[in-house]
Amino acid sequence: MMRRALLAISLLILLPFVVQVYSIDDSYVDCERVVNKWAQSSAENVKTEDKLTLKDLLFFLHIPRTGGRAYYQCFLRKLYSLDKECPRSYDKIRFDLSKPNCNIVVSHDDYSLMSKLPKDITSVVTILRDPVERVFSMYEFAVEVAARFLVHPNLTSALTSKVKPKSSRMVSTLDIWPWKYLVPWMREDLFARREARRLGKLKRSALSDVYNTEDVVMPLHEFISHPIAHEIIHNGAAFQVAGLTNSSYLDDAHEVRRCVRKHPSLGQFVLEVAKGRLDQMLFVGFTEDHKKSARMFASMVGLQVLSRSKSAPSDFQPQSTNQKNVGSSAQVVTDKAAEGTNQANSIGDKVFTATDTSSPKGNMTAERLMRKYEQLMRKYEDCIENSHKVQKSRHAMSLKRISPVNFTKEARHLVPDSMLEEMKILNSLDMELYRHAQSIFLQQQILMEDHDKQTKILAENVPVEIDAPRNFLLLLVTLVPLVLFFIVVMFKRSCCIKYFYVAKMKKAG
Ligand SMILES: *[C@@H]1O[C@H](CO)[C@@H](O)[C@H](O)[C@H]1NC(C)=O
Ligand SMILES: *[C@@H]1O[C@H](CO)[C@@H](O)[C@H](O)[C@H]1NC(C)=O
Ligand SMILES: *[C@@H]1O[C@H](CO)[C@@H](O)[C@H](O)[C@H]1NC(C)=O
Ligand SMILES: *[C@@H]1O[C@H](CO)[C@@H](O)[C@H](O)[C@H]1NC(C)=O
Repeated sequence: MMRRALLAISLLILLPFVVQVYSIDDSYVDCERVVNKWAQSSAENVKTEDKLTLKDLLFFLHIPRTGGRAYYQCFLRKLYSLDKECPRSYDKIRFDLSKPNCNIVVSHDDYSLMSKLPKDITSVVTILRDPVERVFSMYEFAVEVAARFLVHPNLTSALTSKVKPKSSRMVSTLDIWPWKYLVPWMREDLFARREARRLGKLKRSALSDVYNTEDVVMPLHEFISHPIAHEIIHNGAAFQVAGLTNSSYLDDAHEVRRCVRKHPSLGQFVLEVAKGRLDQMLFVGFTEDHKKSARMFASMVGLQVLSRSKSAPSDFQPQSTNQKNVGSSAQVVTDKAAEGTNQANSIGDKVFTATDTSSPKGNMTAERLMRKYEQLMRKYEDCIENSHKVQKSRHAMSLKRISPVNFTKEARHLVPDSMLEEMKILNSLDMELYRHAQSIFLQQQILMEDHDKQTKILAENVPVEIDAPRNFLLLLVTLVPLVLFFIVVMFKRSCCIKYFYVAKMKKAG
């Protein structure tokens, strides 16, 4: 009796599952196989110990609107000479691998670009941002760039009068993914709304929420639920790190994308692959914690580049080679007023290093290394300050064209909570990836503090001549496993330290 009752109860409990299993259509099963196969083949099995050693090629995987430009313009461009830059980083056409022996790629390309790069000698870095903030920023930037076209009387005239870039090195925002899709979309929309307003078809909205002024700009809620936003923006970081954007180099990327969009639960596979990739990266930065991130980036990447600057005689190049390669390297500049200054900034005063012919020959001492490093950081700060000024004025100029809409930090607070919730749900993979990145960031922080101490000791007791880069790397290499071991032990002992720090960081950010 008892048994029968139990059986009946368990059947009742199991019934929904049984029914569900049989009602799942084939395509879920097919899709799961496709996505699973992709995930298996994408799993990383690189040794973690040497992930902190900067390899010959640095791939900066730039997720749009995470502030990567600052690292590129103000740091990497001063660290690497132009001829070390792989041609047409950020280009309209796909990445061009015709230039051998370049050392740096900065691109909005997704992780699948790695399939075109020498994987064993490539380090990857990236920056993540709070997903909700990133969506806001994508929206605002798309509108802002599109609004610049409103100087034209109509869309036809905006489309026909193409602004020619001043030099072949300039790449317009409109040629760069994802802006080449988002800006034309917003541009068309802005002109349509202006026309409708003129014809009296759109009533002036009361300006309480600038993210919802439909007589001027596509409201945010309309933007985030549009198919293009689903295609490009939502979970964009996870897809980019997983190598699954619309412009992936992977053959089965389109099928995997289609499957994940049809069956959102399969997104977990994407997330796991993306997390694994972050784990292997040389550096993961945070937009929200820019100062700390930049300092970390400088000590992880900058110090290693500087310490090697005298290592290989083959690095020595006469000045003329620099000039020849200027034409093949791309620079993202869209602002006419800023072109002159930006260019001067990025080509002129550089601290580098790899082709530095001015400094005396000889070994890099710890002292010299620190001097160069500090010099680099000063240049960085100046550059950041300048670029903020330029951006602020451009921002104001663009916003004038869609007045009274004015995107400010304060205005974001007026957006209803329900919409923020919706943005979080639409970006659930990115939310999780962001949380994962927070714990990586914490580990980096511990590593760096230790590393800083070591460098300081070295700099203070200089009599040691460092045979760069070997000694420096030796230091890193001996230090890193130790610290990693320490982290593992600590984390095992108390899971909660991590969460304590994460919570603390959240509060601070
Ligand atoms: C667009 O503006 C240009 C320049 O003012 C004008 O010549 C053209 O007729 C306009 N086109 C339309 C469709 O209104
Ligand atoms: C996606 O890729 C296809 C084919 O590569 C292209 O035609 C389409 O314009 C792209 N769409 C977006 C939104 O990226
Ligand atoms: C550089 O260091 C190596 C090894 O410490 C030493 O043999 C060499 O003489 C040094 N060269 C110069 C120019 O100081
Ligand atoms: C937007 O708001 C900022 C700060 O409140 C203000 O300084 C700026 O002038 C405003 N811009 C426009 C175009 O209204």
